[in-house]
Amino acid sequence: MTSFIPGPTYREMLHPELLPEPVRRNAAVAAANELDPANLFNITWRGPEGTIRHLALPKSLTGVEPNILVLEGRFFPSGSHKVGPAYSTLVEGELAGEIQPGASRIIGPSTGNFGIGTAYVSKLKGYPATVIMPEGMSAERYARIRQYGGDLDLTPGSESDVILVLERAHEHYKKDAHNKILAQFELLPNYRFHRYVTGRSALEAARAHGNRRVAAFVSAPGSAGTLAAGDEIKSQFPDAIVCALEPKECSTLFNCGRGTHRIEGIGDKMVTLIHNVLTTDYVALIHDDDCVMGLELLEHQRTAVERMLGLPEGAWASLAGLFGVSGICNVIGSIRMARFLHLGPGDNVVTIATDGFDRYPSVLANLKERVGEPLLDQWFQSIFRAWNAAEILDVRPRDQKERLFRYKEEVWTPFGYTKPYLEQMKSQSFWDAEFDKIQQIDPLVTKSRS
Ligand SMILES: Cc1ncc(COP(=O)(O)O)c(C=O)c1O
Repeated sequence: MTSFIPGPTYREMLHPELLPEPVRRNAAVAAANELDPANLFNITWRGPEGTIRHLALPKSLTGVEPNILVLEGRFFPSGSHKVGPAYSTLVEGELAGEIQPGASRIIGPSTGNFGIGTAYVSKLKGYPATVIMPEGMSAERYARIRQYGGDLDLTPGSESDVILVLERAHEHYKKDAHNKILAQFELLPNYRFHRYVTGRSALEAARAHGNRRVAAFVSAPGSAGTLAAGDEIKSQFPDAIVCALEPKECSTLFNCGRGTHRIEGIGDKMVTLIHNVLTTDYVALIHDDDCVMGLELLEHQRTAVERMLGLPEGAWASLAGLFGVSGICNVIGSIRMARFLHLGPGDNVVTIATDGFDRYPSVLANLKERVGEPLLDQWFQSIFRAWNAAEILDVRPRDQKERLFRYKEEVWTPFGYTKPYLEQMKSQSFWDAEFDKIQQIDPLVTKSRS
C-alpha cells in the first residue's frame, strides 16, 4: 500500500480531541513551525482550548438586536479556512489512487486562498504544486504561494475572470494526466468539508449564544463550498435562512450580471457545480467598495470610529486583524439580513471571516490612493446602517431554482458534465448521499495512517 503523509479525517477536523494523544501533542508543537506536516492535524475551527474560534460582533457595530457571530478562518494553517477543502480534495484524490507521491503534480485553480491552501497542503504532503489564478489579485496572495514553494500560472483579469482559470486548469490536465486538479468548483470534498466541519462548528458556536439556534447563515460564495454549511444548519433547524452575498458589480446569481469587482475570493461569474442551489434562500447584493472602505474603518480607523460613536477606547479591540474584504462583505450582509428578516434579541446570525487582514494591506493602500482620507461618519452610516430591500432577492420560488439550474448547466456542460449528472443535482438526495460518503471515507483515511 502506498504510504502518504498522514492527516485527519473529517470527524477529526471537527473534533481534534478524538486524535490519539501523541498526534495532538505533535500538532500543538508544530503550530510554531508552519511547514511541519503535523500541522495537517491543526486544520480545524477549534482553538487550543477546544472551543470554536468565533466572535460575537459588538452591537455598537452592527446596530441590530440579534447576535452576529463570525467564525474566524484566519487561524487555520496557511491563514484561511480554504486550506480545509484543499486538504480534503487532495486526500480523497490519494485514497482514490488518482494522486500518488512521486508521480503527481497538484494544480490549484483559485483566486487566492484556495491556491495558498493548495500550495501549503501540497508542500506538507510532499507534492509539487502549480496555482492558477488571475493576475489582478492582492500582492500578498502571490507572496504566500511562493513562500510555500508553489509555482504560479497567471491568467488575464481579476476576481470575476475565474472561468479562464478553469479553462487553463483543464488544459494542464489534458497536457499531462499526472497533473491532478484540486477542482474546488467541481469536486465534492469541498462540499463535504464545509457541510460537516464548518456547518457543525457553526451550530456549536451558536449554542453558546442567545436562543442557541441559528436563524440565518450568511456567506458570500466563491466556490460556494462555505455555503454548504447552510445545508447542515438546515438539517438541524429547517427554518434557518441561508443567504448568499454577491458584489453588486457582479450580480451573477441575482440577475446573471457579470462585471469586475474588488471583493477577492467571491463573485466568480458562475453557478459553481458544487453549489446546492436548493438550500439557498436569498441572494443579497453588496457594493464592493463598501467592503474595502468598511475594512479601512475597522482596521485603520477603529479608534477614531470608537471615539465618533462615544465608545470607550479599545471597545472594538477584538476586531483587530479579524477581517479581509470578503469578511466585511459577510458582516454587512448579515446586518442587512438581520434587518430584512426582522430578527430580534436572542436570534443568532452566523457568518464567516474566511481570512484575516494580513493579506490586504496593499488593498487599503490602493484605496487611499483612489479616494484619499476617509469620511468617517458618512462611510459608517452608508456601510453599516443603510440598506435597501430591493437588493435582496428571494430565490426560494421554483422559477428562481430553475433559472439557477439552467445557469449551472450553461457553465458546466462545456466542461463535460452530462445532463443526467446535472439533473441528479436538482434533488436534495444527491447532496445527502454525497455527504454520507464521509462514513466510508473517514475509515479509509484512518487506515491509510496505519
Ligand atoms: C477571501 C475569501 N472569501 C470568501 C471566499 C469564498 O469561499 P467559498 O469558496 O467557500 O465560497 C473565498 C474563496 O476562495 C476567499 O478566498
